[in-house]
Amino acid sequence: MSENRDNQKVVLTCAQPTGKLHLGNYLGAVQNWVKMCDGHECYYGVVDMHAITIPYVPADLRKNVYECAAQYMACGLDPDKCNLFLQSSVAGHAELAWILGCICPIGQLERMTQYKDKARKHADAINSGLLYYPVLMAADILIYNADLVPVGEDQKQHLEITRDLAQKFNNTYSPTFTLPEPFIPKSGARIMSLQSPESKMSKSDPNQNGTLYITDKPDVLSKKIMSAVTDSEGSVRRSPDKPGVSNLINIMAALAERSPESVEKEFDGRGYGDFKKAVAEVVIEKLSPVRERYEAIIPDKTLIESALKRGSEAAQRRASRTMAKVYRKVGFMKFE
Ligand code: TYM
Repeated sequence: MSENRDNQKVVLTCAQPTGKLHLGNYLGAVQNWVKMCDGHECYYGVVDMHAITIPYVPADLRKNVYECAAQYMACGLDPDKCNLFLQSSVAGHAELAWILGCICPIGQLERMTQYKDKARKHADAINSGLLYYPVLMAADILIYNADLVPVGEDQKQHLEITRDLAQKFNNTYSPTFTLPEPFIPKSGARIMSLQSPESKMSKSDPNQNGTLYITDKPDVLSKKIMSAVTDSEGSVRRSPDKPGVSNLINIMAALAERSPESVEKEFDGRGYGDFKKAVAEVVIEKLSPVRERYEAIIPDKTLIESALKRGSEAAQRRASRTMAKVYRKVGFMKFE
């Protein structure tokens, strides 16, 4: 898709190519990205530059980029309706990040929850990129002058710092950046691990039975859901002291696009076995077509590459326009 000129709102969001997408990514993010393709000008990025802030293997990163783009497409992102781009192929992200870093107080970065979490997990490899991560993320968003950023709950703090930096730049130099609005879905914004439901579902969970991948086969999905941690009470209702059951209710509600109350009502008086079976059915019904599409797309490297190339070219055109303005405003010289 190329840029339109119909004054449509600009949507930007990204995911890291650090492995397979899981149900949290799907419900908290990608499911909404697909819906936004109609009526908006959308830029969806595979952020490989963010992925190198933790230890990694270069050959795996390249493979993960293909897989991530293929999963985007399998979830329903049509490259003719949105721009699928690769962050490292668009000049400007790192350049803008540098400029924004020069107006960003270091204390604000040190207070970021995701930085503190990752620094704890990778205590022997805390690099400056990890601290600087939210500034690069702000650049990803602001370089497109995005109006809306659909994300899960865990990215809320990063959106706040993005708005702060946009405001600070606008006040320091002159109005330049749109203040982006986060779009966080009502249900599905925070899907928890099936094995430790007090932590969010994540690719890096040491217990992989807690994470449902969108490419898991039906028997694997079913096994993981049937062994999800619950409690000894036996009633299907949400409560802070029932994080496992609450999470399964939210998953079912978000996938079936119904309210959590209606799920509680349907399973009132029925046991966890019945309920888990029903959750597994809904998950399998929704994810099987995604997995099948993924299996058809992934062998076709040309298709994936051409989608990313086209999307990156469109992204580059928009990013260049912003960067020309930014360079002029901050006082950089331009040779004719
Ligand atoms: P990432 O790659 O961790 O996740 C991609 C998207 O999935 C959402 N998500 C979840 N939603 C619900 N429940 C969960 N358990 C869950 N886990 C992840 C995330 O909120 C996200 O929307 N920093 C970002 C990537 C990024 C970005 C950006 C996002 C880089 N630049 C610019 C938006 C705009 C990240 O690590 O997402």
